[in-house]
Amino acid sequence: MRHDIPAAMAARMADLEARDAADRLDGTAHLARLRQVPRVTGEFLALLCAAAPPGPAIEIGTSAGYSAMWLALACRESARRLTTYEVLAEKVELARETIDLAGIEDVVEIVHGDFRDDAARWHGVGFCFLDAEKDVYDDCYDLAAESMAPGGLLVCDNVISHATVLEPFVTRVLADERVDAVVVPMGKGELVARRR
Ligand SMILES: C[S@@+](CC[C@H](N)C(=O)[O-])C[C@H]1O[C@@H](n2cnc3c(N)ncnc32)[C@H](O)[C@@H]1O
Repeated sequence: MRHDIPAAMAARMADLEARDAADRLDGTAHLARLRQVPRVTGEFLALLCAAAPPGPAIEIGTSAGYSAMWLALACRESARRLTTYEVLAEKVELARETIDLAGIEDVVEIVHGDFRDDAARWHGVGFCFLDAEKDVYDDCYDLAAESMAPGGLLVCDNVISHATVLEPFVTRVLADERVDAVVVPMGKGELVARRR
Protein backbone atom coordinates (compact mmCIF):
# COMPACT_ATOMS: atom_id res chain seq x y z
CA MET A 1 0.00 0.00 0.00
CA ARG A 2 2.65 2.55 1.01
CA HIS A 3 4.57 1.61 -2.15
CA ASP A 4 1.74 2.55 -4.50
CA ILE A 5 0.04 5.62 -3.08
CA PRO A 6 -1.59 7.46 -6.02
CA ALA A 7 0.05 10.84 -6.77
CA ALA A 8 -3.09 12.85 -5.97
CA MET A 9 -3.45 11.12 -2.60
CA ALA A 10 0.25 11.60 -1.81
CA ALA A 11 -0.12 15.32 -2.55
CA ARG A 12 -3.15 15.65 -0.23
CA MET A 13 -1.34 13.69 2.50
CA ALA A 14 1.65 16.05 2.26
CA ASP A 15 -0.65 19.09 2.35
CA LEU A 16 -2.51 17.88 5.47
CA GLU A 17 0.77 16.87 7.18
CA ALA A 18 2.07 20.43 6.65
CA ARG A 19 -1.20 21.99 7.90
CA ASP A 20 -1.26 19.74 10.98
CA ALA A 21 2.36 20.60 11.82
CA ALA A 22 1.62 24.33 11.46
CA ASP A 23 -1.51 24.01 13.66
CA ARG A 24 0.59 22.69 16.49
CA LEU A 25 2.89 25.73 16.43
CA ASP A 26 0.76 28.71 15.45
CA GLY A 27 -1.79 28.81 18.27
CA THR A 28 -4.74 27.48 16.23
CA ALA A 29 -7.64 26.83 18.64
CA HIS A 30 -8.02 23.22 19.81
CA LEU A 31 -11.27 22.43 17.95
CA ALA A 32 -10.01 24.04 14.73
CA ARG A 33 -6.78 22.01 14.70
CA LEU A 34 -6.61 18.91 12.51
CA ARG A 35 -5.14 16.76 15.32
CA GLN A 36 -4.51 13.92 12.89
CA VAL A 37 -2.45 10.77 13.43
CA PRO A 38 1.27 10.85 12.56
CA ARG A 39 2.23 9.18 9.29
CA VAL A 40 3.61 6.05 10.99
CA THR A 41 0.23 5.51 12.66
CA GLY A 42 -1.49 5.91 9.30
CA GLU A 43 0.74 3.16 7.93
CA PHE A 44 0.05 0.96 10.95
CA LEU A 45 -3.72 1.47 10.62
CA ALA A 46 -3.55 0.55 6.93
CA LEU A 47 -1.68 -2.68 7.72
CA LEU A 48 -4.18 -3.68 10.41
CA CYS A 49 -7.22 -2.78 8.34
CA ALA A 50 -5.94 -4.70 5.31
CA ALA A 51 -5.33 -7.75 7.53
CA ALA A 52 -8.69 -7.56 9.36
CA PRO A 53 -11.40 -10.16 8.70
CA PRO A 54 -14.10 -9.41 6.09
CA GLY A 55 -16.66 -6.78 6.99
CA PRO A 56 -17.03 -3.01 6.72
CA ALA A 57 -14.57 -0.54 8.24
CA ILE A 58 -15.62 2.34 10.51
CA GLU A 59 -13.76 5.42 11.67
CA ILE A 60 -15.02 7.56 14.58
CA GLY A 61 -13.46 11.02 14.19
CA THR A 62 -12.56 12.03 10.63
CA SER A 63 -11.13 15.55 10.99
CA ALA A 64 -9.82 16.44 7.49
CA GLY A 65 -9.63 12.83 6.36
CA TYR A 66 -5.92 12.12 6.78
CA SER A 67 -6.30 8.75 8.51
CA ALA A 68 -9.24 7.99 6.20
CA MET A 69 -6.82 8.11 3.23
CA TRP A 70 -4.63 5.42 4.83
CA LEU A 71 -7.69 3.35 5.60
CA ALA A 72 -8.95 3.83 2.03
CA LEU A 73 -5.74 2.21 0.72
CA ALA A 74 -6.42 -0.77 3.00
CA CYS A 75 -10.08 -0.93 2.00
CA ARG A 76 -9.10 -1.20 -1.67
CA GLU A 77 -6.64 -3.96 -0.75
CA SER A 78 -9.19 -5.92 1.27
CA ALA A 79 -12.37 -5.25 -0.76
CA ARG A 80 -14.31 -3.35 1.93
CA ARG A 81 -15.65 0.15 2.38
CA LEU A 82 -14.97 2.76 5.07
CA THR A 83 -17.67 4.84 6.74
CA THR A 84 -16.16 7.72 8.71
CA TYR A 85 -18.03 9.88 11.26
CA GLU A 86 -17.40 13.55 12.02
CA VAL A 87 -19.52 15.91 14.16
CA LEU A 88 -18.05 19.30 13.09
CA ALA A 89 -19.37 20.82 9.84
CA GLU A 90 -16.10 22.58 8.98
CA LYS A 91 -14.16 19.30 9.34
CA VAL A 92 -16.73 17.48 7.20
CA GLU A 93 -16.19 20.09 4.49
CA LEU A 94 -12.40 19.58 4.62
CA ALA A 95 -12.83 15.79 4.57
CA ARG A 96 -15.13 15.98 1.54
CA GLU A 97 -12.39 18.00 -0.18
CA THR A 98 -9.89 15.26 0.77
CA ILE A 99 -12.15 12.47 -0.53
CA ASP A 100 -12.57 14.35 -3.79
CA LEU A 101 -8.88 15.32 -4.25
CA ALA A 102 -7.58 11.86 -3.26
CA GLY A 103 -10.13 10.11 -5.50
CA ILE A 104 -11.41 7.76 -2.79
CA GLU A 105 -15.16 8.27 -3.14
CA ASP A 106 -15.44 4.65 -4.34
CA VAL A 107 -14.39 3.31 -0.92
CA VAL A 108 -15.08 6.11 1.60
CA GLU A 109 -18.38 7.55 2.80
CA ILE A 110 -18.43 10.39 5.32
CA VAL A 111 -21.33 10.78 7.75
CA HIS A 112 -21.83 14.22 9.31
CA GLY A 113 -22.93 13.31 12.81
CA ASP A 114 -22.19 11.57 16.07
CA PHE A 115 -21.29 7.89 15.70
CA ARG A 116 -23.33 7.09 18.82
CA ASP A 117 -26.55 8.09 17.04
CA ASP A 118 -25.90 5.71 14.14
CA ALA A 119 -24.07 2.81 15.81
CA ALA A 120 -27.09 0.48 15.87
CA ARG A 121 -26.89 0.05 12.09
CA TRP A 122 -23.54 -1.77 12.26
CA HIS A 123 -23.01 -5.54 12.41
CA GLY A 124 -20.09 -7.73 11.38
CA VAL A 125 -17.57 -4.87 11.36
CA GLY A 126 -14.08 -6.01 10.35
CA PHE A 127 -12.14 -2.92 11.45
CA CYS A 128 -12.86 0.15 13.57
CA PHE A 129 -10.66 3.14 14.38
CA LEU A 130 -11.71 5.27 17.37
CA ASP A 131 -10.12 8.74 17.35
CA ALA A 132 -12.73 11.12 18.82
CA GLU A 133 -12.91 13.35 21.91
CA LYS A 134 -11.75 11.41 24.93
CA ASP A 135 -14.99 11.88 26.90
CA VAL A 136 -16.88 9.74 24.36
CA TYR A 137 -14.34 6.87 24.22
CA ASP A 138 -16.24 4.65 26.68
CA ASP A 139 -19.58 5.00 24.87
CA CYS A 140 -18.07 4.65 21.38
CA TYR A 141 -15.95 1.66 22.39
CA ASP A 142 -18.91 -0.23 23.86
CA LEU A 143 -21.10 0.43 20.82
CA ALA A 144 -18.31 -0.50 18.40
CA ALA A 145 -17.29 -3.62 20.34
CA GLU A 146 -20.84 -4.95 20.08
CA SER A 147 -20.84 -4.43 16.30
CA MET A 148 -17.53 -6.21 15.58
CA ALA A 149 -17.23 -9.48 13.67
CA PRO A 150 -15.35 -12.32 15.45
CA GLY A 151 -11.68 -11.49 14.93
CA GLY A 152 -12.52 -7.87 14.09
CA LEU A 153 -9.90 -5.27 15.08
CA LEU A 154 -10.78 -2.16 17.08
CA VAL A 155 -7.99 0.42 17.42
CA CYS A 156 -8.16 3.39 19.83
CA ASP A 157 -5.74 6.32 19.42
CA ASN A 158 -4.04 8.54 22.02
CA VAL A 159 -3.83 6.06 24.89
CA ILE A 160 -0.26 7.19 25.68
CA SER A 161 -0.46 10.88 24.68
CA HIS A 162 -3.62 11.15 26.87
CA ALA A 163 -2.57 8.47 29.36
CA THR A 164 -3.91 10.22 32.46
CA VAL A 165 -7.41 10.90 31.19
CA LEU A 166 -7.69 7.56 29.36
CA GLU A 167 -6.19 5.37 32.11
CA PRO A 168 -9.59 4.11 33.40
CA PHE A 169 -10.70 3.40 29.83
CA VAL A 170 -7.53 1.45 29.00
CA THR A 171 -7.77 -0.54 32.23
CA ARG A 172 -11.38 -1.43 31.41
CA VAL A 173 -10.61 -2.53 27.83
CA LEU A 174 -7.63 -4.64 28.91
CA ALA A 175 -9.97 -6.44 31.34
CA ASP A 176 -12.88 -6.70 28.86
CA GLU A 177 -13.43 -10.42 28.18
CA ARG A 178 -15.07 -9.65 24.80
CA VAL A 179 -11.62 -8.81 23.41
CA ASP A 180 -7.92 -9.57 23.57
CA ALA A 181 -6.16 -6.19 23.76
CA VAL A 182 -2.69 -4.69 24.00
CA VAL A 183 -1.23 -1.18 24.08
CA VAL A 184 1.21 -0.60 21.21
CA PRO A 185 3.73 2.15 22.11
CA MET A 186 3.96 3.86 18.76
CA GLY A 187 2.77 7.27 17.60
CA LYS A 188 0.40 8.61 20.27
CA GLY A 189 -0.19 5.12 21.68
CA GLU A 190 -2.56 2.64 20.04
CA LEU A 191 -4.83 0.32 21.97
CA VAL A 192 -5.44 -2.64 19.65
CA ALA A 193 -8.33 -4.92 20.60
CA ARG A 194 -9.36 -8.09 18.74
CA ARG A 195 -12.96 -9.22 19.19
CA ARG A 196 -13.13 -12.82 20.43
C1 LIG B 1 -8.31 13.68 16.66
S1 LIG B 1 -9.47 14.20 15.48
C2 LIG B 1 -9.51 12.90 14.26
C3 LIG B 1 -8.27 12.83 13.40
C4 LIG B 1 -8.37 11.86 12.26
N1 LIG B 1 -8.72 10.52 12.70
C5 LIG B 1 -7.04 11.76 11.52
O1 LIG B 1 -6.11 11.13 12.07
O2 LIG B 1 -6.90 12.34 10.42
C6 LIG B 1 -10.98 13.90 16.33
C7 LIG B 1 -12.23 14.29 15.57
O3 LIG B 1 -13.34 13.57 16.14
C8 LIG B 1 -14.49 14.35 16.02
N2 LIG B 1 -15.49 13.78 16.96
C9 LIG B 1 -15.52 13.95 18.30
N3 LIG B 1 -16.52 13.24 18.84
C10 LIG B 1 -17.13 12.58 17.83
C11 LIG B 1 -18.23 11.67 17.75
N4 LIG B 1 -18.90 11.31 18.86
N5 LIG B 1 -18.59 11.16 16.54
C12 LIG B 1 -17.89 11.55 15.42
N6 LIG B 1 -16.84 12.43 15.44
C13 LIG B 1 -16.46 12.92 16.62
C14 LIG B 1 -13.98 15.76 16.35
O4 LIG B 1 -14.84 16.76 15.85
C15 LIG B 1 -12.59 15.76 15.68
O5 LIG B 1 -12.62 16.35 14.39
